Amino acid sequence: MSVAMAASRAGVYNDKVVRQFSIMAVVWGVVGMLVGVIIAAQLTWPELNLGIEWLSYGRLRPLHTNAVIFAFGGCALFATSYYVVQRTCHTRVISDKLAAFTFWGWQLVIVLAAITLPLGYTQGKEYAELEWPIDLLIAVVWVAYAVVFFGTVGIRKVRHIYVANWFFGAFILAVAMLHIVNSAALPVSMTKSYSAYAGVQDAMVQWWYGHNAVGFFLTAGFLGMMYYFIPKQAERPVYSYRLSIVHFWALIFTYMWAGPHHLHYTALPDWVQSIGMVFSLILLAPSWGGMINGIMTLSGAWHKLRDDPILRFLIVSLSFYGMSTFEGPMMSIKTVNALSHYTDWTVGHVHSGALGWVGLVSMGSLYFLIPRLFGQKKMYSVPAIELHFWTATIGIVLYIAAMWIAGVMQGLMWRAINPDGSLTYTFVESVKATFPFYVIRLLGGLLYLGGMCVMAWNVYMTARQGMRQGAIPEVRIPNAAPAQA
Ligand code: HEM
Ligand code: HEM
Repeated sequence: MSVAMAASRAGVYNDKVVRQFSIMAVVWGVVGMLVGVIIAAQLTWPELNLGIEWLSYGRLRPLHTNAVIFAFGGCALFATSYYVVQRTCHTRVISDKLAAFTFWGWQLVIVLAAITLPLGYTQGKEYAELEWPIDLLIAVVWVAYAVVFFGTVGIRKVRHIYVANWFFGAFILAVAMLHIVNSAALPVSMTKSYSAYAGVQDAMVQWWYGHNAVGFFLTAGFLGMMYYFIPKQAERPVYSYRLSIVHFWALIFTYMWAGPHHLHYTALPDWVQSIGMVFSLILLAPSWGGMINGIMTLSGAWHKLRDDPILRFLIVSLSFYGMSTFEGPMMSIKTVNALSHYTDWTVGHVHSGALGWVGLVSMGSLYFLIPRLFGQKKMYSVPAIELHFWTATIGIVLYIAAMWIAGVMQGLMWRAINPDGSLTYTFVESVKATFPFYVIRLLGGLLYLGGMCVMAWNVYMTARQGMRQGAIPEVRIPNAAPAQA
């Protein structure tokens, strides 16, 4: 690149990397949700694995979780954090090359996951299945991400660090720490390794990781999105800046201790389980503080919800966030967990957070970004956003209601006892009774996936229109020095 080009580029934001990650978030969203629908169908009709080992449920399930969390969610987080950090710091990312490296490196991780998981290579740790060579690549890409993000904050042109960046920053730091500690393993070949931990310690480290993957990957980063895109789309300042700071510190402190609620009634010492339960109950307060801060940002502008489907995505995502962060603390109470654990209630809880919160807030943020990134005033079709909103919402309700009913039913059937002490139901009777609910869940999943396909079409048409018009903008940084020729 010539010196003149470099100098003129310094005055504009790097939106290329944001565009790349945004498009891939949509692509991986469709892929990950399609695999979700396939495994939902396999749970309903197990023959659908067609007798092929690569398509068996045990291999496709981790493919689904990795694709939706790390590919769809991850790309949405990279895109929004790079967009937000540049806009709120009034500066271009500190290094274009390193930002491009994070894009290509992350896509490589995703492709390697998509190849190795169906082949059956796994460390057997939920949400940390990938084998050690891929883990090393993840660590390198993540450190590069941290350098780009914090480096950009470091060269900011405004004194203040906007709260969205606090959440993105905590997400990046915590995920680096979780990944490195939980993935420590002894390799025995290129495709096989053994965890550095054993027995109950292994379980505790895994669920310290697992729960904080929820807290930092699936929550903190998306709260960063909430704090930027809701005020922008509503054209209102954040309801309470003071609350956002209390929210931040209370949330990140409390999340770290809640992991043992995944190990109730196991060999983990009882007092550790109790600590996990107590911190999970406390977690309700900061979670709801954040939700209230987001929703109240709309005060005085509620009417906008009537005709702005993007704002509706963002605000309804917060309702699901509130719902799942009420349900989670309840499920962490030991006696409630005795009923819910191992049942589809957990799966319902997961998807009220995943589809309702993570999915909708990402979609709303991407609908905000895409037209701006392609030089358009709005998405190609606004009625299609409306259609997406309703198919997604109805899909979520069908999914989670079916799983809640199925889950409570399973829990009650498993614990039902005859007067003589024998079990009232065999396990297979509970499986048979679950069948209709699996069909309803599949229907809900199909609707949610359908909405995502509508979004993919709408994004494609918007991008095509922008490219045909040659409208891809170079956005000037406010107060940047004039470009030198
Ligand atoms: C079309 C949409 C989706 C469908 C049909 C779907 C379906 C499924 C199914 C059938 C399972 C396995 C449940 C079981 O083992 O009994 C599952 C697990 C899971 N899914 Fe999804 N899913 C969808 C979207 C998503 C999204 C968008 C996310 C995250 C952002 C997500 C995160 C997860 C997680 C974390 C699990 C593991 C749950 C656990 O271990 O309890 N899913 N999904
Ligand atoms: C205050 C916040 C929350 C608390 C206290 C909480 C608590 C819990 C509890 C007690 C379980 C069941 C553990 C078990 O019986 O095995 C669970 C599972 C889970 N939750 Fe939450 N939850 C919270 C919020 C969320 C949110 C917002 C999401 C998603 C975005 C989420 C995703 C998950 C996942 C993926 C699992 C399943 C883990 C697995 O077994 O694979 N949680 N949560």
